[in-house]
Amino acid sequence: MPEPCTFVIFGATGNLAQIKLIPALYHLDAAGLLHPDLRIVANGRRPWSGEDWLVRVRQWVEAKARGGLDEAVFERFAARMTYYRGDLTEPATYAGLAEVLSGGGYSPNVAFYMSIRPAEFGVVVEQLHENGLLDEQEGWRRVVIEKPFGYDLESARQLHRRISRFLAEAQVYRIDHYLGKGTIRNILVFRFANTMMEPLWNRHYIDHVQITHAETFGVGTRAAYYDGAGALRDMIQSHLLQLLTLVAMEPPACMEAEALRDEKVKVLRSVRPIPPSAVHAHAVRGQYAAGTVGGERVPGYLEEPGVPAGSVTETYAALKLYVDNWRWRGVPFYLRTGKRLAADRALVAICFRAPPQQLFRNTPVQRIANNWVLMGIQPCACLRMEITVKEPGLEMRTRQTSLDASLMSEGDVATEAYEDLLLDVIEGDRSLFLRYDEVEWAWRIVDPVLRVWATERDYIPTYPAGSWGPYEARALFDRESHRWRHELEPEAPEE
Ligand code: BG6
Repeated sequence: MPEPCTFVIFGATGNLAQIKLIPALYHLDAAGLLHPDLRIVANGRRPWSGEDWLVRVRQWVEAKARGGLDEAVFERFAARMTYYRGDLTEPATYAGLAEVLSGGGYSPNVAFYMSIRPAEFGVVVEQLHENGLLDEQEGWRRVVIEKPFGYDLESARQLHRRISRFLAEAQVYRIDHYLGKGTIRNILVFRFANTMMEPLWNRHYIDHVQITHAETFGVGTRAAYYDGAGALRDMIQSHLLQLLTLVAMEPPACMEAEALRDEKVKVLRSVRPIPPSAVHAHAVRGQYAAGTVGGERVPGYLEEPGVPAGSVTETYAALKLYVDNWRWRGVPFYLRTGKRLAADRALVAICFRAPPQQLFRNTPVQRIANNWVLMGIQPCACLRMEITVKEPGLEMRTRQTSLDASLMSEGDVATEAYEDLLLDVIEGDRSLFLRYDEVEWAWRIVDPVLRVWATERDYIPTYPAGSWGPYEARALFDRESHRWRHELEPEAPEE
């Protein structure tokens, strides 16, 4: 059982709190993982009473509770809550918060969760400091910061300088919810708890790596944030580069936070910088036009509510990167993400080299397919190895089959990434949170691309909603034979 603590959520009436944070805290409570003295202070600007707040909380939990809402757990959960109304731009909000927290019943261990606009991170940290709320004399004080940390390299540096005047690095939990997903944690187990793959995990055997995040949703109601961000900042700079580090990193000295993060930084530092003249050969962007998703007509990005006319914000981005180190030199890593694509898929697909000799040339088997290791993140959390086998029968024909090491067996309950990560915050385990240098190196990788795209504001390729993205994304591949891998299922045999 973790220590007692107080969980303060800034932006508690927003979307993230509704769909992720509150349900995750409820599930932790249901699992008996919250100390009886843990309290939750929810801050928002809306003039809600405590009862109004709890009505919302009940609706949010009902919508997400696995196996339905448990009244007894909900009663306990609701008793932990206080709604604290206050505007984050007003200093009085923080003085009032300090008063609430110093009143009886609140643990001096406090986690502040910034579920707010990134532009507000700096001022909130300053105000917390001004009001003595970051002072660790009586208990720990931690600040959880959602992505994006900065808007580009320079703004990330400025934000870091600003908050590190008041916070030690050990107090900052930069969250990337991808690191809490089951498969992603499993990448480390797969690589470092087994010996089978290690001798193959390098440039001698791996042909290329693909990291895909595709979603069928559009921008929804998030245009105010998304139009200023775009797919490269929103997904690649954070989630997909994190995935790349886990696939490519060297074994850490131990599994402690700093050892892990040191290795991840080494990968990011080894990524070959993309010079401005090479941006078009390494990066492709696109924006969805109207189309059909799951049988339904959907509007294009420019027709979505809140998107400025003529916006050239990318809703699709793909990058080709090289990790110039001993293990990976010459192996392309292709990363792509997009909204309104053909399916909801997140996967890492590792393509192995073809056998050195085509021994089956004089048979119907003209070309042996490559082996793949496939790590499905969603919707299916699974791990597969794809190999070639002979089909039954007299003729020499082969097909691809997969060895399936599924992560879930019947009866297993999938937890949400935020549950694991919130528990880590309470327990003080920073291994799945980003250290500042990781964020900075990730910005260094995407910054040259962002700069070039920022100057090219006349035109952006489009793709119909419900497709697999712009045609141009095929041009990233080093070889004719490379194709984007969309599915975990083996592809049709080649003859
Ligand atoms: C968020 C992005 O970080 O991740 C969203 O801001 C994106 O734009 C989301 O849709 C995807 O997360 P998941 O867990 O649904 O794959």
